[in-house]
Amino acid sequence: MPNDDQFISLPTMANDTNRFQAIISHCKEYGFIFPSSEIYDGLSAVYDYGQYGSELKKNIKDHWWKSMTQFHENIVGIDAAIFMHPTTWKASGHVDSFSDPMIDNKDSKKRYRVDHLIEARIDELEKAGDAAAAGALQQAMDSLLAASDFVGLKKLIEDQKIKCGVSGTSNWTDIREFNLMFSTQLGSVTEEASEIYLRPETAQGIFVNFLNVQKTGRMKIPFGIAQIGKAFRNEIVARQFIFRMREFEQMEMQFFIRPGTEDQWYEYWKEARMKWHLGLGIPKEKYRFHPHVKLAHYAKAACDIEYEFPIGFKEVEGIHSRGDFDLRNHQEYSKKKMQYFDPEINQNYIPYVIETSIGLDRTCLMVISEAYTEEDLSTPEKQDSRVVLKFPTKLAPIKLAVLPLVKKDGLPEIARQIMDTCKSQFRCFYEEKDTIGKRYRRMDAIGTPFCVTVDQQTKEDQTVTIRYRDSMQQERISIAAIPGIVNQQIGS
Ligand code: GAP
Repeated sequence: MPNDDQFISLPTMANDTNRFQAIISHCKEYGFIFPSSEIYDGLSAVYDYGQYGSELKKNIKDHWWKSMTQFHENIVGIDAAIFMHPTTWKASGHVDSFSDPMIDNKDSKKRYRVDHLIEARIDELEKAGDAAAAGALQQAMDSLLAASDFVGLKKLIEDQKIKCGVSGTSNWTDIREFNLMFSTQLGSVTEEASEIYLRPETAQGIFVNFLNVQKTGRMKIPFGIAQIGKAFRNEIVARQFIFRMREFEQMEMQFFIRPGTEDQWYEYWKEARMKWHLGLGIPKEKYRFHPHVKLAHYAKAACDIEYEFPIGFKEVEGIHSRGDFDLRNHQEYSKKKMQYFDPEINQNYIPYVIETSIGLDRTCLMVISEAYTEEDLSTPEKQDSRVVLKFPTKLAPIKLAVLPLVKKDGLPEIARQIMDTCKSQFRCFYEEKDTIGKRYRRMDAIGTPFCVTVDQQTKEDQTVTIRYRDSMQQERISIAAIPGIVNQQIGS
C-alpha cells in the first residue's frame, strides 16, 4: 500500500484563540479565498473565491437550491437583477430605516457600530470570568437598542469606560444612524443620470415579481419563491474575514401564506431550516436559535440560526415573519394591486410572508470551520501531523483524486482512463508529481474524500488502492467499483 506518512512537515497546531486565523491562512494557502485585488493591498471586507473556494461555494448553492426548489413542489426559483427601480427601496423601508447606530472616536476618527463596540466589552467580561456582569451588560444593551435609546447607549459606553482600539481614548461623539446602502448612477450623462442602489438584500427582487410568478406559474398559496444572488452593504466594521463583507451572496426564500397562518408557518420554517443545517452533518450543539430583540423594520417576529464559529456563536441565517409589510408598501408606491384571490375562501388579500434568508459566504465559512481539523499523527518514532478539511462528500470541491504511483510503466495511461470514466460524473483531480504521501496530504488539505492510486498491480488485476480521507484507511478495489463508491457518498 502507498505510504501515508511520507510527508512529515509539521503545520503549527492552532489553539482555540488562533484557530480562526489558522483557517483564514489555510483558505488563502490552498486556493479557497483570497483578499480582493490583493496586489493593490486588498479592499476592506471584500474577498475573492479561488479554484477550490468557488467549487465549494457552488456545491453549497446547488445543495440549497435543490433542497428548496426540487424538494418542494410549491417553491420555484427566480434570478432577478441587482439593479432595481429606486422606488423599490423607498417602499421596502431601506432608504429610511436600513441603518445602524454608529459612534465615532473623536481622536482616531474611527467609526464603530455601537452594538459591536459593546459586544467586544461583553466578550472581555466573559473571558475575565465575570459572567454576571457580561449578562447584565448584554441585557442593558438589548433593551436600549430595542428602544433606539441612543443617549442611553452612549452613557452605557461611557459607564463601561470602553476605549477606541486605535486612540486608546473614550472621547466619543454622539451616536448617529448611517444608511448601509451603496448608491451609484444609472446613465452616462450626469444630467440624465438617476441615483440607484446596489440591492442590500435579494428579497425585494422576489416581492416585485410576486404577481409575475404567481400568475405565470399558476401558483396557489401557500407557495414560495427562492433566489440566490449578490447583495451589497456598506458595513463599517470589517476584519471578520468572509463573515461580514461589503459584497456578499444571499440565498433567500419568501413563502407567501394566508394571513392568520403566520405563526404556524414561522414555526414550520424554523424547524425545516434547522433540519437542513443538521443535514450538513454538523452536530446540533453547534447551533442555537437566537430570537431578535430589536426587530428589523419589516419584521413581526424574527430569529437567527446561530452557529458556533471559532469567533463564537454568530448568525448564519435569519427567519423572519414579514407580514404583508413589503407587498402592501409596493402596492402603495407602485399603485399596482398586489393581491391574491384565494379560491378556497373566496377572498382577495395581500399575502403574508415568512422569509428564510441565509448568507452563502457565512455558510461557506461555517462549513470550512466545521471541516477544519488539525490531527497529531505522531508516533514514538516520528513526529507527524496533518490539516484535513473533513467536508461532507456532496460539498467537497474535488470528490476524487486519481494518482499514478509513478510517472512511467503505463500507469499514467491507466489513471487517465479512470479520469475519462469519472470526470463526467463528478469533479476529479489528476496528479502525478511528488511522493504519494505528499499528494495525499495535499488532497487532505483541500478536503478530497477519496484518492485512488494506480500501481503495478493495477496492470495485472485491474484494481487500485482507494484511500479514505478521514480514516486514512486504504483498501484494494476494482477500477469498475470507483464511480459507484464515490456516487454513493455524494448522494448520502
Ligand atoms: N432579507 C432579509 C435579510 O437580508 P439579514 O439578517 O440582514 O436579513 C440575512 O441577512 C443573512 O445574510 C444573514 O443571516 C447573513 O448570513 C447574511 N449577511 C448579512 N449581512 C452580511 C454581510 N455583511 N456579509 C456576509 N453575510 C451577510
